[in-house]
Amino acid sequence: MHKRTTLRGLAAATLTLGFGLAGQTASAADTGPIKIGLVLPMTGQQASTGRQIDAAVKLYMAQNNPVIAGRKVEVIVKDDASTPDQTRRLAQELVVNDKVVALAGFGITPSAMATAPIATQSKTPMVVMAAATSSITEASPYILRTSFTLPQAAVGIAEWAAKNGIKKVVTLVADYGPGNDAEKYFADRFLLNSGQVLEKLRTPLRSPDFAPVLQKVRDAKPDALFVFLPSGQGAQFMKQFAERGLDKAGIRLIGTGDITDDDQLNDMGDVALGVVTAHHYAASHKSAVNQKFVEAFKKANNGMRPNFMAVGGYDGMRVIYNALNTTKGAGGEALLAAMVAHPVLVNRPIVATPRGVRLCRPSERTLDLLDKWPPGPFAKESGELIIDASGQRVA
Ligand code: PHB
Repeated sequence: MHKRTTLRGLAAATLTLGFGLAGQTASAADTGPIKIGLVLPMTGQQASTGRQIDAAVKLYMAQNNPVIAGRKVEVIVKDDASTPDQTRRLAQELVVNDKVVALAGFGITPSAMATAPIATQSKTPMVVMAAATSSITEASPYILRTSFTLPQAAVGIAEWAAKNGIKKVVTLVADYGPGNDAEKYFADRFLLNSGQVLEKLRTPLRSPDFAPVLQKVRDAKPDALFVFLPSGQGAQFMKQFAERGLDKAGIRLIGTGDITDDDQLNDMGDVALGVVTAHHYAASHKSAVNQKFVEAFKKANNGMRPNFMAVGGYDGMRVIYNALNTTKGAGGEALLAAMVAHPVLVNRPIVATPRGVRLCRPSERTLDLLDKWPPGPFAKESGELIIDASGQRVA
C-alpha cells in the first residue's frame, strides 16, 4: 500500500516536472505558430468520428483566417484509435513537446476521462468535441464541451414515446458511460410517464454482437426497443434488427440520434424509415445557418454529409478561435477564462426554431421559443418543476 502511494506520488511529480519545463519555454515560442492539439480516433471502430471532426475543423480554419495576433494557427492531429492510454500519452506529448495552448477532440468518454488529469496538471483548456457522458465536465476544471450529453437526448425520446402510445419498452445500450446515462435517463423519464421498462440490455463497446440481445428483445415482445450505441455502430445494428425480423414483428425502434447518424444514414436501408430518435442535431435541419454549413461541408469533402460529431468539432474550433483572439494567442487560465466568458457554444445552450434563436440558459428559457408547451407536470433533468400539473409555468 505504502509502496503504491509512493509510486503514484513519483508519477505525479514527473508529470508536474514535465509541464513545468513546458511552461518555462513557452515564452520562447510566442512568435511561432499557435498550436492546438487535436486527438481523435482516425482509425478503428470510431474512425467516422475522427473523419467528421477533422473535416469540420479544417472547414472552420478554411473559412476563418488562421492567423491570430500575427501568428499562424496550427492544428496537430493525433490518432488515438479510441484507446484511452494512447489518448493520454498523445495529449501529454502535445502539451510537453509541442506546447499546444489547447487540447481538443476526444471521440469516446474513456479517452476524455483519461486525459482530464493532463489538462488539470498542465492548466491546458481541453475542449471535448465528441464524448458525451454527462459527468465528463466534472473530471477537470479545464474541460469544456461542445458536443452534447446523453440525458439531453434520452429524456426527449422518453417523453415522445410516452405520448405516442408506447407503453412497454426494452432498453439496449453500449455498456459504458454514455450508455449508463442513456439507460438511466430514458428509464427514469419513461417510468415517470407511467411507461414500463421490461428489460435493460447491454452490449460491449468493442466488437458488439447484437444477435443474442436481439433474440431477447424479440422474446420480451415490447412495443418499442430504445437504443443508444456510439456513433459508427448504427448501420450494423439496424441491419441485424431487420435481418432478425424485429421490424416485421411490430417492435418499433426508438433511440438517441447516435443510431440515426447522418454519416451512416445512406447505408441503413429501408429499416431506418419509421425509426424515431431525439438529438441536438440533424443535417436535415432547415435553418439557413445549418443549410449553409451542410453545403460548405459537403463541398469541401466530396459530398460527405456532416453528422453531429462534425458540428461538435466546428463549434469547438469556433470556441477556441474566439478565445484565442481575446487572449492574443495566450493559453492557460487566460484562455479558459476567455472561453467561459462567452459560453455561446459550450454545452449546447443555443436553440434555433422558426420563432427565433435564443441562448437557452437556464434551460427553461426554451419554453419561450415553443408554440406549444409539453403538458404538465413537466420537470427539468434535475427534477426541478418548470410546468405544474395545471399547465402553469412555475420557473
Ligand atoms: C462517448 O463515448 O461519450 C460517445 C461516443 C459516441 C457517441 C456518443 C457518446 O455517439
